[in-house]
Amino acid sequence: MLCPVGCRMDLEIEGNAALVTASSSGLGKASAKALAREGVDVVLNGRDEDRLADARADVEDVATGEVVTQPGDLTEADDTEAMIERTVEEFGTVDHLVTSAGGPPSGAFLDTDDDDWYEAYNLLVMSAVRLAREAQPHLEAGEETGTIVNITSRSVKEAIDDLVLSNSVRMGVIGLEKTLSKEFAPEIRTNAVLPGPHETSRIQDLVEAAVERGDYDSYEQGLDDWAGNPLERIGDPMELGNTVAYLSSPKSGFVNGTAVTIDGGATGANL
Ligand SMILES: NC(=O)c1ccc[n+]([C@@H]2O[C@H](COP(=O)([O-])OP(=O)(O)OC[C@H]3O[C@@H](n4cnc5c(N)ncnc54)[C@H](OP(=O)(O)O)[C@@H]3O)[C@@H](O)[C@H]2O)c1
Repeated sequence: MLCPVGCRMDLEIEGNAALVTASSSGLGKASAKALAREGVDVVLNGRDEDRLADARADVEDVATGEVVTQPGDLTEADDTEAMIERTVEEFGTVDHLVTSAGGPPSGAFLDTDDDDWYEAYNLLVMSAVRLAREAQPHLEAGEETGTIVNITSRSVKEAIDDLVLSNSVRMGVIGLEKTLSKEFAPEIRTNAVLPGPHETSRIQDLVEAAVERGDYDSYEQGLDDWAGNPLERIGDPMELGNTVAYLSSPKSGFVNGTAVTIDGGATGANL
């Protein structure tokens, strides 16, 4: 059966426990689905409880383990602490931490003020810092290697026009990821994934807004324009989710401290 993105990969992580943040939509949800399909018990997170409930139903469709939800705001230290506590309460430990977050606002440098920078830092960097700190004792305690995967953006490899906050602040997550890959090893492996455009609600909203502005004649035309990579198409979120699940599994046991670009080859950098 041809099943490029929708089949179980048999990654030997069945029965493990994962927290995936910002997973009521998009890349976080796709990562949670990929893990749940492998039999991992998963905690989903987002701020909006209705959206979270819909996501739970969606993930449960493919899950063979448990799926629970933990509403909370990644910019609040108490909420990130509660996400780890809930995972331990439900499943006894944390074997896999996958961090995603909302995207910072787009804009050029002169469009931003101090608050924009601090807010982006709090959302993207401090959430990853706090989650790693709280999860570390649990990730370390397991019989198998614990894993952290940070979802960031290809903007850490190549500055993208009108995305100064993403281009700049996300570098802090990569510095953290690389440092933890040394300090937390060998008990914990830490990696990052760097997405280019994937068809999530964030991208759908941006393309639809561009169609309304008259930039494109149709949604499909806008999507083609956003794709802009050698594979000439936009990514399916499950293609990223599958990579996150692989990086969380013993099948990638010697992969540590790396950042995998998932962008159809759009990024021009050689490394
Ligand atoms: N999609 C792409 O093509 C692409 C490419 C490069 C980078 N990225 C980056 O990847 C990340 C995920 O993007 P996406 O496309 O998956 O976005 P998305 O579909 O809009 O999903 C964002 C998720 O984050 C949650 N969220 C936002 N702010 C939050 C907060 N403060 N606390 C807790 N949850 C929060 C949202 O739920 P609530 O709103 O209910 O909280 C939602 O579940 C973003 O940082 C984005 O910039 C995406």
